[in-house]
Amino acid sequence: MVEAGGSNPPGPIGDGMKATAKANANIALVKYWGKRDEALILPHNSSISMTCDAMETVTTVEFSENYDTDTAIINDEELHSDQKRVYDHISLIRKMAGIKEKAKIVSESNFPVAAGLASSASGFAALTVAAAAAAGLKLSEKELSIVARQGSGSACRSIFGGFVEWKKGTKSSDSYAEQIAGKDHWKDFRMIATIVKEARKAVSSRSGMSQTVKTSPYYGGWLSSIEEDLKGMREAIRSKNFTAAGSLAEYNALKMHCTMMTSKPPIIYWTPATVEIMNAVREWRQDLESYFTMDAGPNVKVMCLKKDEKELRQRLSELDGVVKTISCAPGDGSSVSKNHLFD
Ligand code: DP6
Repeated sequence: MVEAGGSNPPGPIGDGMKATAKANANIALVKYWGKRDEALILPHNSSISMTCDAMETVTTVEFSENYDTDTAIINDEELHSDQKRVYDHISLIRKMAGIKEKAKIVSESNFPVAAGLASSASGFAALTVAAAAAAGLKLSEKELSIVARQGSGSACRSIFGGFVEWKKGTKSSDSYAEQIAGKDHWKDFRMIATIVKEARKAVSSRSGMSQTVKTSPYYGGWLSSIEEDLKGMREAIRSKNFTAAGSLAEYNALKMHCTMMTSKPPIIYWTPATVEIMNAVREWRQDLESYFTMDAGPNVKVMCLKKDEKELRQRLSELDGVVKTISCAPGDGSSVSKNHLFD
């Protein structure tokens, strides 16, 4: 149970209710790609991810009658108009709590946003936990996962730490994430986010997956092979079989990208640097076991074991197209924090 308010119990309505939460990003090992219900964000397939300890978003939300309108400042920038869904999410939580006060939201991530680096996952998980606490809602982790899902699908997985499965469910109330294994289960697993370009991605995952579902002739193949991938990944995580987990994650990501590339018009997130990293990882595999995965952007995430982390980061940093690497171990789920981002 995540106590809404936690160490920051909300004050009486009208005096302002404020809370801060932090959430880590997660990277999917078996991807979520495609919605069967776009309004409720119900996915066509279940997915499995690792919560990443080095990619965090911190968000403070305050509801107060002193605010005339909802405002949000994300990484020092006033909210972009295409991020209206942040305000929709606040409205959803306000409705659940039965309050009317407008909100001030300030959010900071320690990694580049909107470049296929799962910023919406940590962003909406932190927003959900902070806003629920500020609004005085007492929600279980399962309930927080259901609410976070409605902001951004992948965010439902960032409520939990370690290795996590989002079960697609049959309706909104049973489509939520659950932990498969805690962060200490497989301490040696590393996910190295390799940044090739800090620019915003061209096609959002939201519109990209919608277009794929509607137009790719390969989407059926994606769905018909997903249960096998999920089963294989659960087993690989339980038995800590790195070869099985890495090769399956790589294969699953390539299958997802094939559905994107065969949608109309085609969506190709890869840049020359993306392909350079993919090729290098495959070549290095002879003496350094590593695997890649990519999401809705040009950046590549490279998986390895702790013993190879230093050498792999060194090799990655020597590639032409690589700007930066961020190395992540399995991390914690989201939590309420005492340190507000504004007074
Ligand atoms: C490729 O969760 O960002 O990263 O639900 O529309 O907000 P919305 O999409 P989002 O999609 C993530 C897609 C992915 C794969 C994954 O994280 O499982």
